[in-house]
Amino acid sequence: MLILTDPSEMQRSAMGLRRNGLKLALVPTMGCLHEGHLSLVREAARRADRVIVSLFVNPAQFGPGEDFARYPRPFEHDAALCRGAGVHILFAPAPEDMYAPDASVFVDEGRISRGLCGSSRPGHFKGVLTVVTKLFNLCRPDLAVFGRKDAQQARLIRQMARDLNFPVEIVVAPTVREGDGLAMSSRNRYLSGPDRKKATCLHSALQAARAAFEAGERGGAALKAIIGRRIAETPGAAVEYVEIVDAESFEPAAVVRRPALAALAVRLGATRLIDNIELTPEPQAEGAPPPPEDRAGTL
Ligand code: PAJ
Repeated sequence: MLILTDPSEMQRSAMGLRRNGLKLALVPTMGCLHEGHLSLVREAARRADRVIVSLFVNPAQFGPGEDFARYPRPFEHDAALCRGAGVHILFAPAPEDMYAPDASVFVDEGRISRGLCGSSRPGHFKGVLTVVTKLFNLCRPDLAVFGRKDAQQARLIRQMARDLNFPVEIVVAPTVREGDGLAMSSRNRYLSGPDRKKATCLHSALQAARAAFEAGERGGAALKAIIGRRIAETPGAAVEYVEIVDAESFEPAAVVRRPALAALAVRLGATRLIDNIELTPEPQAEGAPPPPEDRAGTL
């Protein structure tokens, strides 16, 4: 595995591989890798000849007072995991090599990014879309793999690729969970022992909403209330948002008639956790493929 830190060297390598006719896949990450990230690497390896993992804690997507400085950076461990997963290039640039001090061009979106994490973290998605654009230009992938765990982010990247004509196929892979349902996240390691136990409330609240949905409940407000009540039963868990949104537009859904997402952000102590689950109205016909959450594809 090649470890590259210099952006122009990364770009030269990618262009060389492409000239040799190899299909390249990119998995962008901020490191502190876990099984969720590695599932994206495996999906990338199934679809391409070479896998590039980028490891960059992107300052542009953290707001003031967020956890940029304390975000975990276990570089050697991450590199070992990538090596074990058969990654071809690990691209780990320094912030000063990614952003010129007078950088003045950014990528932003004004509709899908308005709600959910976009409203609670102003500027966050501008930072994400800008860095993903830069990573696409540096790593020149044919395809890039993102996790459904960050559903709004994945949806925005698909929109960006379409609206700005990036020649990159966007693949979205299922959320990988711990045995008790907690979605894997680099931020889970911030949780104290008791908060780690309480953190299962996110998934169990979403499951309760899905059970009601499957029993016929279609009202957005009613589904939100079920989730809110379940979180409120957990002492110390503070809801940042709970929403039922259309899976395509990310507009709040008053009634779920098309594929939707139940999404939430919850704070436990100083740790902010997010999760989401799909609510798909059509009954699955017998022999039909499994619902989208269980397989990789476009969001
Ligand atoms: P990061 O949080 O490191 O996540 C990197 C990728 O892993 C994202 O596509 C995310 O959705 C996916 N991922 C995280 N947890 C997952 C899980 N439990 N199951 C499946 N996939 C999971 O998201 C970012 O970094 C950054 O915003 C980035 C896209 C790299 C831009 O800086």
